[in-house]
Amino acid sequence: TGPDTYSPTGQPTGADQARMAQAGSHLTTAQGARLYDTDHSLKAGPRGPVLLQDHHLREKIMHFDHERIPERVVHARGAAAHGVFKAYGTASSVTRAAFLAKDVETPVFVRFSTVLGSRGSADTVRDTRGFATKFYTSEGVFDLVGNNIPVFFIQDAIKFPDIVHAAKPHPDREIPQAQSAHDTHWDFVTLHTEATHHVLWNMSDRGIPRSFRTMEGFGVHTFRLVDAEGRTTLVKWHWKPKLGVHSLVWEEAQIIGGVDPDFHRRDLADAIEAGAYPEWELGIQTFPDTPEQTFEGIDLLDPTNIVPEELAPVQPIGRLILNRNPSNFFAETEQVAFHPGHLVPGIDITDDPLLSGRLFSYLDTQITRLAGPNFGQIPINRTHAPVNDMLRDGFHQAAVHRGAAPYRPNSLDGGCPFTAGADTGAYVETPVRIPEAKKVREAPETFADHFSQPRRFWLSMSPVEREHIIGAYTFELGKCYEQAVKERGLQVLANIDPELCAEVAAGLGLPAPSATVPLADVEPSPALSQVGQ
Ligand code: HEM
Repeated sequence: TGPDTYSPTGQPTGADQARMAQAGSHLTTAQGARLYDTDHSLKAGPRGPVLLQDHHLREKIMHFDHERIPERVVHARGAAAHGVFKAYGTASSVTRAAFLAKDVETPVFVRFSTVLGSRGSADTVRDTRGFATKFYTSEGVFDLVGNNIPVFFIQDAIKFPDIVHAAKPHPDREIPQAQSAHDTHWDFVTLHTEATHHVLWNMSDRGIPRSFRTMEGFGVHTFRLVDAEGRTTLVKWHWKPKLGVHSLVWEEAQIIGGVDPDFHRRDLADAIEAGAYPEWELGIQTFPDTPEQTFEGIDLLDPTNIVPEELAPVQPIGRLILNRNPSNFFAETEQVAFHPGHLVPGIDITDDPLLSGRLFSYLDTQITRLAGPNFGQIPINRTHAPVNDMLRDGFHQAAVHRGAAPYRPNSLDGGCPFTAGADTGAYVETPVRIPEAKKVREAPETFADHFSQPRRFWLSMSPVEREHIIGAYTFELGKCYEQAVKERGLQVLANIDPELCAEVAAGLGLPAPSATVPLADVEPSPALSQVGQ
């Protein structure tokens, strides 16, 4: 038997709702005792001292004092919406995931975010945007925790604290806020040149989206889908906005950041309120699950790589529509807890070392952010599948587990054997063969090329997009105090393209260096340009 507070749908029961929300016509204390006055402290006479015995005053102020929780360590500023995902059924040939079967409708909650700014920062800054989707499927929660940029800064999660420390405001002055215009950021990304590809996307128009409604989304890593017979396919996830991909220009982003710092969250909420529901198509690129895990020479475990859509077309598998605004920002948008390890049968992970670190990090940080291990019971995080777990107690335990023997099998609670297996609809990890290897701290050789894909991106841009990229690098690098950091920034650009480097160097008033690696011989990928999307 499951805990008392879960209804079969996972939604709060009537009793829960009454407990959680404002019920009844009278103002009460948290314990339900009716109040006759909430504006005056209890005093010894109207001009006398306030009495310690005023339990209402103490409760009211105590609760207020604890209203704030820590903001997310990254992606602190976000906005979210509820919606529905309807599957086309086209993915059923590669996955047994029930929510991807034809015409299945699944409730979802989507949170968009910036990465670096604090909770109160502006929406239109140059940054990556988070695009995290919680699917409340019949087989448990599936979280697709993606970004609007298809590659990541680093190839190994062990560098994540370092890149975030480098990109967050400087520790001494706490500036700059939410901008990549500073020395530590450029110092890091020019010393760790695997970041080149992601930074180039940030400096392109993708770094200043027009609206959350006009952003693509990407799962970034390669995932593994499993069909009913256990056959596997490697995939990359893509969200394609129905409205097309659109960005602001830099001057617009700057002005809006001052005039309306809530521009993106207002746009999302207003559109939904007006019935202009944003839509995306979910698609997958599929690759054979070979032992090498490469496709056309591209290492699929390297999260700084894309696979050009011309080489592996994105195949549509379903449609997402966002049709309801949250009713309480804190309860829903702030308390939602995404995790790339929230998987359902038919969707599995790969050995991408960045993904492996994420699988630890999200749960771990949420124990602090949401104060204890029971945040899965917060209504926005509850699965809509029945829950029957052996987890017990802990801070903020709201479930009343029954029975005397919290372990399986047991012979005391009416005889509870433990049976499971693929045939019971259980989540079964794919028995992937692990190559015989030595324990090492090193990256594979196939992670070493940091400039070919950035060069392909640059060559795929239209003239106006190139102009914007040159302007962005010139502005952001121009904010650095350290000459050596600017020079290293130019060296990275020289390894992408001589024209890009020369233009930025001219803007900075510095000499343009020559490339230190041979320029890659790559074809443009028209799908990367926003023009015509
Ligand atoms: C939060 C995406 C890499 C740690 C987020 C969020 C998104 C996201 C969308 C916001 C979730 C929300 O709206 O609540 C990504 C993507 C990555 C990536 C696409 C790379 C492909 C990493 C890595 C780590 C990490 C490598 C750590 C090793 C975190 C943490 C949070 C977060 C700690 C805050 C979670 C919370 O407080 O609930 N990430 N991330 N991320 N990410 Fe990542």
